[in-house]
Amino acid sequence: MKIAILSDIHGNLEALQTVLAEIHSLHLDEVICLGDNIGYGPDSQAVMDILEGQKIASVMGNHEMAVKNRANLAWFNPMARKALEITLAQLSGTAVAKICKLPFFLVKHGLRFVHGVPPANIFLYLFQVPEKKLIQKLDQLQEHICFVGHTHDLGIISWDGACLTKDKLVPGICRLDENKKYIINAGSVGQPRDGTPEAKFLVYDTQTRQLSVRAVNYPFADTGKKIIAAGIPKMYAEKLAVGADIKG
Ligand SMILES: [Fe+2]
Repeated sequence: MKIAILSDIHGNLEALQTVLAEIHSLHLDEVICLGDNIGYGPDSQAVMDILEGQKIASVMGNHEMAVKNRANLAWFNPMARKALEITLAQLSGTAVAKICKLPFFLVKHGLRFVHGVPPANIFLYLFQVPEKKLIQKLDQLQEHICFVGHTHDLGIISWDGACLTKDKLVPGICRLDENKKYIINAGSVGQPRDGTPEAKFLVYDTQTRQLSVRAVNYPFADTGKKIIAAGIPKMYAEKLAVGADIKG
């Protein structure tokens, strides 16, 4: 089973279309999203339509949680809040209803998928979890691999029962050790913050345990123009060109 893992699309239609075209050419079996499909970008409704049309499963992200319960808007900084309020006005009633039903986590093919931190935290960032707590979480994890997003930065944490290691992930291929547990951050399709502008996603082969980190060029300047035209804070357009490292 070869699975594509996408995270933090953030209403970026051009990035999603480019990534899905590459996924199609790779002849994969399934695509799973790690949440934050909406917000920041200009095309949240179009992104929702594509995910629905292609029957792509997703977990709930913190941006979807703000749609489900508007009280969660208070969690966001003022710029992100403004972007989300514009997003909320764009979404159809059907899209909102679908967002409200998204699960906090998914377990498929022996793999766990969650937006923030396993087992099912949507708002917490992985870097906020102290090492001792991280080891506890890995020990308690039923699955050997948990894929997360939320930070918009690629990374891999491994635990062999004695040693915890944290590494950056860069585009390329590696093979996972069947005797280790992993938390793997898929980065971001539509608002990368790993210092490069390409849309990132992962492909994992459950049979060979091969993990492929993919980075694809897309016309981010077009997306940026649409962000500004939609009245979404300009910073979210500017950051597309550099893949800036910020929280949100
Ligand atoms: Fe996000």
